This record gives sequence, structure tokens and C-alpha cells, in this order.
Amino acid sequence: MKNRIIASIDVGTSKIAVLVAERDDYGDIHIIGVADRESKGIQRGAITRLEVAARSIAFAVSEAENMAGKKIEAVVINISGEGLKSQNEKNTLNLSPSPIEVEEAHVHKLIEGCINKAKEENYDIIHAIPRKYTLDDYLEVEDPKEMSGSKLEAQVHLIKIPDTLSRNVKRAISRAGFEPDMIVANALASAKAVLREEEKEEGVLMLDIGAGLTDFVLFAEKAPLITGCVPLGGMHITKDISHYMKVNIEEAERIKEKHGVAYVGLVKDSEAIKIKPRGEDREVTANKAEVAEVIQIRLEEIMDGVKAQLSKAGINYEEVAKAGVVITGGTAELKGIREFVENYLDIPVRIGTPMDVKGLRDRIEKPMYSTAYGLLEFWRSPEGTPSAKPEHNSVGGSGFSISGLIDRFKRFLEEIS
Ligand SMILES: Nc1ncnc2c1ncn2[C@@H]1O[C@H](COP(=O)(O)OP(=O)(O)OP(=O)(O)O)[C@@H](O)[C@H]1O
Ligand SMILES: [Mg+2]
Repeated sequence: MKNRIIASIDVGTSKIAVLVAERDDYGDIHIIGVADRESKGIQRGAITRLEVAARSIAFAVSEAENMAGKKIEAVVINISGEGLKSQNEKNTLNLSPSPIEVEEAHVHKLIEGCINKAKEENYDIIHAIPRKYTLDDYLEVEDPKEMSGSKLEAQVHLIKIPDTLSRNVKRAISRAGFEPDMIVANALASAKAVLREEEKEEGVLMLDIGAGLTDFVLFAEKAPLITGCVPLGGMHITKDISHYMKVNIEEAERIKEKHGVAYVGLVKDSEAIKIKPRGEDREVTANKAEVAEVIQIRLEEIMDGVKAQLSKAGINYEEVAKAGVVITGGTAELKGIREFVENYLDIPVRIGTPMDVKGLRDRIEKPMYSTAYGLLEFWRSPEGTPSAKPEHNSVGGSGFSISGLIDRFKRFLEEIS
């Protein structure tokens, strides 16, 4: 890898988080700059006002760059939004009647076949991650290169996003003055930051509950099995509190962070809190359990959204996610969320924060930085074929190309070999 100063931009509904990192001679990354700014013109992964979004991105990036005191050489960004979906495809290649050595070109051809199968109008394929390979119908291998066989099969996890979403995010980044070198699905970035290798191997469901979106990915046998997104998050909880408790949004946010509990079972009926009704100066007494109920109902809807996508894909998460659930994203700070999800999904839960952070740890080791930190980790060691630079506009003019995906994959293979 060439660049030493890398920036990750997490384009979120509530904030733009930027991390600037320096890569040392061993390939480790050290955070040297950080900024988070209120995000404007961005809602649930989609750009709603291009100029405004570009300005808030530029603002956050220059703040982080100034703190780092070094010029950014490469940029990696996240992407997500309603409509993000995934599928798994298989492809088989007859190598030769008598066994021969598997070459890189064979692997590319297999993956390309899966990408072609997954192509869909108005969607960009942003990742093609090999889940496993099978040689001669019986031997499962992680990396088939240089192994011998006459037939090779690949199972590939593909992640797609509506092309308008990716086009507009790229446009906002480029209007801010940057060309993204890598675009990573939000869930994969967060997973990279918070999941342990053993968990991915055993099977684990990761939820990144942000402000406007809940991104999820279920890992099984080390690789993603399903990736998705539910267009709901902490912002909806705040709006519900504002509505039901008759307070303005700022007060609702304060109530949520100070007194909010995700699980009614954890609050005593008698517990009272002070809240300031909309349009009034005086405080009134409210019931803490009532606020908890408002929060829990919305969280149930979010969990039901995730469960619905899993069951639609025919996945029994209780069977697959043997290591349980890991929750991250700003909403993971909500009191009682672990207990709530544990109870609702009947599965062990832990809260995930970025792991093994080097540099500015006190600031970065929080659930809201999981995506931004994971983006840097993804840059350092990509999985599968992360999306290519948007210079090849060959797939439906969408900005992603098969050749780009394969190029990335080639480089990835070179790096790990
Ligand atoms: N202590 C806390 N208690 C409850 N909620 C919190 C707390 N701290 C932050 N949040 C919530 O976390 C959310 C922001 O999380 P995050 O920064 O992960 O979102 P985002 O990345 O901007 O949005 P998205 O990923 O949905 O586009 C907000 O809704 C905020 O209210
Ligand atoms: Mg987010």
C-alpha cells in the first residue's frame, strides 16, 4: 500500500465523523486527527441538500486535517441507506479434467461470474466477498490459490445499494474536494472495528444503531452471511419522546440521554423525572417508566425490522449467531439497551466499541466512532472486493465497475500473499 496519511469520513445522519491516521512501516495505523461535526443535508445515508452536505463534510475534514497537521493522501468513506441489501451467489469453474493448480485468474473469473449474477438495474454492487471455496465438490478452502483440483466453486456475498444513493454521496464528497479511494458498506466498517475474530467464526450479529439507520451484518464462518439496513434509529426515539412527552426536540434528546432506559423492566413504577414541556418555562414531574415505554416500543420496531430481513432470507439468527449480538453506534449508549435486546432476541448481547485503537484512544473508543475507525481498518486490510475508485463508470454509469472490483481484489490478494 502506498498512502501513509489516510482519512475516513463517516457520513452519518447526526454527525460527520472524520479520523486522520498515519500508517507506520509495519502497516499499523495511528490516529492523529479527529473531528465530528453536526451533519447537515444528510438524512439516513442519503444526501438531501448537496451543497450543505458538502460544506459540512469539508468543514469536518479540514478540522481533522488541521489537528493531524499532515496532508490527507487517501480517503475512505462509508455508505448505507434504505434499500441496501445483500445476497449470496455460487459459481463453478471446471478447471481441467485432470487436476491443475488454481491461479488468480480462475478466482477472478469465478467472482466475476457471481457479480454478474447479482447485477440489478438501478443498483450498485459495492462488495463481493468470497465466503468460501470448494475444490472438487468436497474440500472447503479459505484461499484456493496454488491448490490443485479440477473443479472450483465459490460462494460470494454481494452487497448492493441503490445507485442514486451512492452517486449522490460520491458527489457530495467530491464537491467537498475529495475523491473517495474506497467506499465501504457502513455495517462492514463498524463490524471491522468492534467484532473479534472468534465471534465472526462462531457466528455473530452486529447492529450499528445510529441516529437514522440501523445497519446490521450477520457473520457466519468468518464471513458475512447477510447485510442489511433498517431505516430507523435514535433520532426516531427522540422524536417519539418529543411527541409523547410534549417536549421540544432538544429537551427530548436531553431526557433520552439523561433519563432514558431502553427496557421498561429496569424502571420502578414510582421513579419520577423532571421535564420541561414545550412552550413552557417551568419543569413538571413525569414518569420515568413512561419514557422507557416510548423508547422500548421504538426499539422493538427496530429489532422487528432486523428480524424480518433475517427471516425473509431464511436465516434463524439464534442458530447462526452462536456468539450472540454486538451492538454499537451512538444509540448503544442508551441505558438498558443490552438488557432489552438480550431479552427481546433471547440471545447474549455485548456493547461494541472500537478495539485495538492506537492514538487518541480516550476520544475514539466510543460506539459512535465504530464506523469511522472501522473504515480505517478496512483500508488497512480489506475483505473481499471493496468498491473501486469511481473513475470507471462502466456499470450503468453508476460509478462502480466490475474491472474495478476485480482490480481491488487482485491487489488484496497481492497484499495478503
Ligand atoms: N447517551 C446516549 N443515550 C442515548 N442515545 C444516545 C446517547 N448518545 C448518543 N445517542 C444517540 O446516538 C445517535 C447518534 O449515533 P451515531 O453517531 O452512531 O449516528 P450517525 O452515524 O450520525 O447516524 P446514522 O448511522 O444513523 O446515519 C443519536 O440519535 C443520539 O441521540
Ligand atoms: Mg452511523
